[in-house]
Amino acid sequence: MAKVHVFDHPLIQHKLTFIRKADTGTKEFRELVDEVSTLMAFEITRELPLTEINIQTPVCEATSKVLAGKKLGVVPILRAGIGMVEGILKLIPAAKVGHVGLYRDPETLKPVEYYVKLPSDVSEREFIVVDPMLATGGTAIEAINSLKKRGAVNIKFMCLVAAPEGVELLTKEHPDVDVYIAALDEKLNDKGYIVPGLGDAGDRLFGTK
Ligand code: URA
Repeated sequence: MAKVHVFDHPLIQHKLTFIRKADTGTKEFRELVDEVSTLMAFEITRELPLTEINIQTPVCEATSKVLAGKKLGVVPILRAGIGMVEGILKLIPAAKVGHVGLYRDPETLKPVEYYVKLPSDVSEREFIVVDPMLATGGTAIEAINSLKKRGAVNIKFMCLVAAPEGVELLTKEHPDVDVYIAALDEKLNDKGYIVPGLGDAGDRLFGTK
């Protein structure tokens, strides 16, 4: 069963408040999403496995810890997920970055893949799929399907704000994918926006309407 982690670190919660505020402009919104993504990356990497190596300090020989285990990949869901990438790469600069683009079929209303580009060693990497918003869950589920179809076996999903409906569906469809969020909001409204949410994350990040 998938685990759902809500990052309640005070800095994340404080910055998220200003991300939510309607009068926060594009520049500040983008900076805050970047900062929160860095803080979330710090939390999400807490359990990465370590191994010991022998080193020489200026004083003596010593054993010391370095990261072990799988290499990391970050996969933003286009377009709003892009706003989270740089913040994550500040902490894990060697991670490779894939991209997944989906559009909503006007008839079925289901998300359809239009662009997927992943690192070539997909099955060897641990992936963090990122999107600021987890609303109905449809896009996240399909993005993770896109990765799994290409051989990814180790996937986490990270977002800023989630609706309970999205968390429920995502964890049901992908019970092997743990979910990391900064806030679990109240509900979706009839237009598909998360309430209280932060509005359209893509538009607010890129200054479009
Ligand atoms: N996508 C957004 O950008 N905002 C929402 O509230 C829901 C989906």
